[in-house]
Amino acid sequence: MKLGIAILAAGRGKRMRSATPKVLHPLGGRPLLGHVLTAAAALDPERIVVVHGHGGEAVRAAFAEAPCDWVEQAEQLGTAHALRQAMPALAGLDRVLVLYGDVPLISPETLRRLLEAGAETPLALLTAELPDPTGYGRILRDAEGQIRTIVEERDANPEQQAIREANMGFLVAEGARLADWLGRVGNDNAQGEYYLTDITALAVTDGVRVASCAPANLDEVSGVNDRVQLAALERAYQRRLAETLMRAGVSLADPARLDVRGQLQCEPDVSLDVNVVIEGEVRLASGVRVGPGCVLRDCVIGPETEILAHCVIEGAEVGAGARIGPFARLRPGSRLEDDTHVGNFVETKNTRLGRGSKANHLTYLGDAEIGERVNVGAGTITCNYDGANKWPTRIGDDAFIGSNSALVAPVTVGAGATIGAGSVITREAPAEQLTLARARQQSLPGWQRPRKSTTS
Ligand code: UD1
Ligand code: CA
Repeated sequence: MKLGIAILAAGRGKRMRSATPKVLHPLGGRPLLGHVLTAAAALDPERIVVVHGHGGEAVRAAFAEAPCDWVEQAEQLGTAHALRQAMPALAGLDRVLVLYGDVPLISPETLRRLLEAGAETPLALLTAELPDPTGYGRILRDAEGQIRTIVEERDANPEQQAIREANMGFLVAEGARLADWLGRVGNDNAQGEYYLTDITALAVTDGVRVASCAPANLDEVSGVNDRVQLAALERAYQRRLAETLMRAGVSLADPARLDVRGQLQCEPDVSLDVNVVIEGEVRLASGVRVGPGCVLRDCVIGPETEILAHCVIEGAEVGAGARIGPFARLRPGSRLEDDTHVGNFVETKNTRLGRGSKANHLTYLGDAEIGERVNVGAGTITCNYDGANKWPTRIGDDAFIGSNSALVAPVTVGAGATIGAGSVITREAPAEQLTLARARQQSLPGWQRPRKSTTS
């Protein structure tokens, strides 16, 4: 059985009131359409076709790498019309599954069940009993419980509007018959649109039994029409992720105050305090503790490392048993080995800090290669930029950099060297020696402060 998938995404999304196409708005840090494409790909189809609207270049560009074909529906004449645009690209496939670009949380499991329901008959629909089905098409069944037709809200009489079984829009149909039905759908209805839902009555007329199945939960089939619904789905998505994490052995101070906008992998006994934001790909080893208000993007943190409040960590790798923050900023290319300490108002970039080394306060370490057990005093700056180029700083094992030193790169501090506080180091500081580069302290005995002159 060759499966084709059509994703309808031509709607303008007017209610988003946005210059960005609706399906590019992010949920969990990824565009809505990205979630749908992932669910589609999980079914291993022969082909995925996305129907985009006029001016869909931005959408195509955002998914240039995605394994799908694109067709344009220049004018939004209805869901049947949209699907009809995709049919030539799906010709010859046994079955066609219809998804929606703005219904992002649909799960492959539910879609698999829909495919199973559609394996025995040429048309199967995803339907659900809703407490309030306002806005949805209603499923009309006969006395035997067989589906007869779908009536759109606006075309429904009060009796039909009272029906709570609603059409979720998702369906799977035999390819050839679907093409035939779509060709026969008219637009004589309240909105003057070609309704995809009308294929149901056409199938019944052709003697087809229409099957149905229900989604596992309603978040899965909730669509995004405006930013209020988008925010509600974002919460639903985050809540699910938080539950998965907790079940895998992660402690969350408050599951409602974690935001994962990417991939988070945690070993057991990780604990995350409130308002942690995860972006990109983040891996936390066992026993990692992350304090409140931290932002972690594309980083790997080793076992038992503690990240104190309000750190921003991006593109960094931290070893085991380290202590970062509070208020530390690790920028891309930072590699902090085991047992390192990086404290408040310390910024690192493209820097390796060897095992057991410390930079506890008010420091900038850029393009630096720092050995083991080094103590970097408060206020130390690697002056890595001369206005045109970036230069490296090298510091050997066991060096001690006195407070408020400026290390003007390129420069090397030897192993075991000590740099006196307040030094401006422009040349190599030899190993094991004390190097001072500052004005010598003087005191002038008998010196008197100037007095205010009495003559004017
Ligand atoms: C549709 C169903 C309704 C169902 C509801 C579930 C029809 C006629 N009605 O109604 O039974 O209960 O979904 O959410 O199908 N689209 C296009 N081109 C168009 C029109 C729509 O690509 O010309 C896309 C939209 O981008 C959207 C999807 O199709 O992703 C659904 O369209 P929408 O107008 O929201 O349909 P509903 O009125 O909600
Ligand atoms: Ca809709």
